[in-house]
Amino acid sequence: MKKILFTLILMAGFVTGLKAENPPDEGMWLPMFVERLNYVDMQKMGLKLTPQEIYDINHSSLKDAIVNLGGFCTAEVVSNQGLLFTNHHCGYDAIQKHSSIDHDYLTDGFWARSLEEELPNEGLTVSFLVKMDDVTGRVLEKVKPEMSESERSAAVGKAIETLKEEESAEGKYEVSVKGFYNGNEYYRFVYEVYEDVRLVGAPPSAIGKFGGDTDNWMWPRHTGDFCVMRVYSGPDGKPAPYSKENIPLRPKHYLKISVDGVERGDYAMIWGYPGSTDRYRTSHGIQATLSEIDPAIVKVGGKILEIMKSDMDKSDEVRIKYASNYAGLANFWKNKIGESRGLKRLDVYDKKKAIEDKFSAWVNAEESRKATYGTALQDISDVYAAYADVKYNTKLWYLQISFFGSQMMQFPMQTQGIINILKSGQKGDELQASLAPFYEMGDGQFKNYNPATEEKIVAAILELYRQDVPKDALPDIFNLIDKKFKGDVHLFAKKLFETSVLATEENYKAFLAKPSIKAFENDLGYKMTNSFYNSFMTQNMAVAPLGEKLKKAQRLFVDGLRKSNPDKVYYPDANSTMRVTFGQVLDYFPADAIHYDFRTYMEGIIEKEDPTNDEFIVPAKLKELYAKKDYGRWADKDGRLVVCFLSNNDITGGNSGSPILNGNGDLIGLAFDGNWEAMSGDIAFEPELQRTINVDIRYVMFIIDKFANAQNLIDEIKIAQKTR
Ligand code: ARG
Repeated sequence: MKKILFTLILMAGFVTGLKAENPPDEGMWLPMFVERLNYVDMQKMGLKLTPQEIYDINHSSLKDAIVNLGGFCTAEVVSNQGLLFTNHHCGYDAIQKHSSIDHDYLTDGFWARSLEEELPNEGLTVSFLVKMDDVTGRVLEKVKPEMSESERSAAVGKAIETLKEEESAEGKYEVSVKGFYNGNEYYRFVYEVYEDVRLVGAPPSAIGKFGGDTDNWMWPRHTGDFCVMRVYSGPDGKPAPYSKENIPLRPKHYLKISVDGVERGDYAMIWGYPGSTDRYRTSHGIQATLSEIDPAIVKVGGKILEIMKSDMDKSDEVRIKYASNYAGLANFWKNKIGESRGLKRLDVYDKKKAIEDKFSAWVNAEESRKATYGTALQDISDVYAAYADVKYNTKLWYLQISFFGSQMMQFPMQTQGIINILKSGQKGDELQASLAPFYEMGDGQFKNYNPATEEKIVAAILELYRQDVPKDALPDIFNLIDKKFKGDVHLFAKKLFETSVLATEENYKAFLAKPSIKAFENDLGYKMTNSFYNSFMTQNMAVAPLGEKLKKAQRLFVDGLRKSNPDKVYYPDANSTMRVTFGQVLDYFPADAIHYDFRTYMEGIIEKEDPTNDEFIVPAKLKELYAKKDYGRWADKDGRLVVCFLSNNDITGGNSGSPILNGNGDLIGLAFDGNWEAMSGDIAFEPELQRTINVDIRYVMFIIDKFANAQNLIDEIKIAQKTR
């Protein structure tokens, strides 16, 4: 019913010439609806392709060149041999895993000179979207308004299972059904997933991560944030696990490179897999973000980063081991600092409040609306107040960041299955065979692990918990720390790392060789993690009704909001499904009297050079090329080399590695970041300030060609015909 109503509203709008009221740059749109909702705008702004050329489920189209990389980034196919471009920071973990002191690909870069030299990456996948469809009606078929949230979830979950089953083609496809508009609509996505993805090339970090954490999330930028991968299929062209027999994928569609260069105002669209936004968060949510959520993340994250960094600076071995974890946490941490700044500076609370006041006026104007939406905002407000009372968000984020930043805290969760195996009574060889996966887990765990660093991290986390979590809500491990270690978290951590069978490789291997239930259950590491986990679960159970209340209220709020503005086409929040955002190449004014131009040049790299700071080292070879102005066909029309440029596309994390395309659908760059002045953008889009930072495709090609001399790749990649 709801769906029919919505379709009617849309159709009515369509007939009367309705179009999105949002500035065209705002919104992450579903490709399936582009023809109906966005095409006219896109065409007006410079899109030359037909709707069928961009999204068609029966013939190859642009969407077939865009893939989800591993569930966390986007990549695009750039040759008829399955070659992929993505960001350096998306490949960073893979590059790090292939690195050692002897082969430091992080520092020196890596280039495969032939297919044989390409490096497999266990666990890394590439998903192609086969098709998507609207399944709202079927998902909500059995849902009744009087249902409790858990009854509703159960009904929705059951319907989703059937819908997935239907399209899986006996496991050939991976199918997901996702909620949109806070559970008011549902769409089904069918993917073909390839599991053999190899590393082909990566520039040194001094190019791929130039500017490091200092420049991260900021403009002006001079980062060559790209790397090259390749997707392989079985000899039959179908997905297959890694094998020497596999062949480069013959893709349905691939992108060509534009060497035209970008000018202010040029049409630009970005396709990809944005992870999550929260554009319908209310003023109450903003308050919680500012007072609890962001400060918690910044405090614990900052402490863990400080410890890692200090140890990384002292040893190359530790630096390589922690590079990827550190970069991930540092990125998230700085994002949250920027988010709080942005929320305050851009008065997002007041803007949200204004939307809510209008919503309330609309609700109160009619009795039937009052009956449906009347309590939504009050419920949201009540839930956040109750969360604040028990410091729920602080505890939630302390735990999440601790588990993310402390490998020691994670490991007991991963390995607790050992207890059941031991309880099964197996012995000798049989037991050792059952433990094989845990030997493997140990190899993974301790490869990028330094006990001394981990010990400091554990102590620091415990200290912060003690400081900031109410005494009666502390995990019970603190009783043991008080009783046996006089409350000294450092003594406890020291003892843990001396004795725990999970804390060091030697202890763990010795334990697996002669395992015992008692040793595991009495282990300080296991006890600590278990205690944190249990305390969190208890807490979670206690607040579960709040979570349900919030979910329902938020769903009603978004539903009502859309109905209250029938002329406005609301776009759904990002949720790791394929989206397109379109806009233009554009400069901005970050603050009073300051203007930021839309592109940066090679000269800027030289300006930023600082050989004493590892974030701003410029490789000698790059300086030579600069001195000779040896830019080949990748130079701009004035002979200079463009490095990065800005556009006003609406993207977020997960879009990293996304192609930015011109009106012909040719590749002009790779999106890799957002800008500091609009870091609250995931919660509220800021048209005047919000920009996407892209690396110019000609800089990418220049690095591959002139810096790496990877002619094998240059020959493989196709250049589009010049249009200016
Ligand atoms: N801020 C970027 C993003 O989240 C990641 C940039 C990686 N670069 C870095 N210096 N850490 O997409």
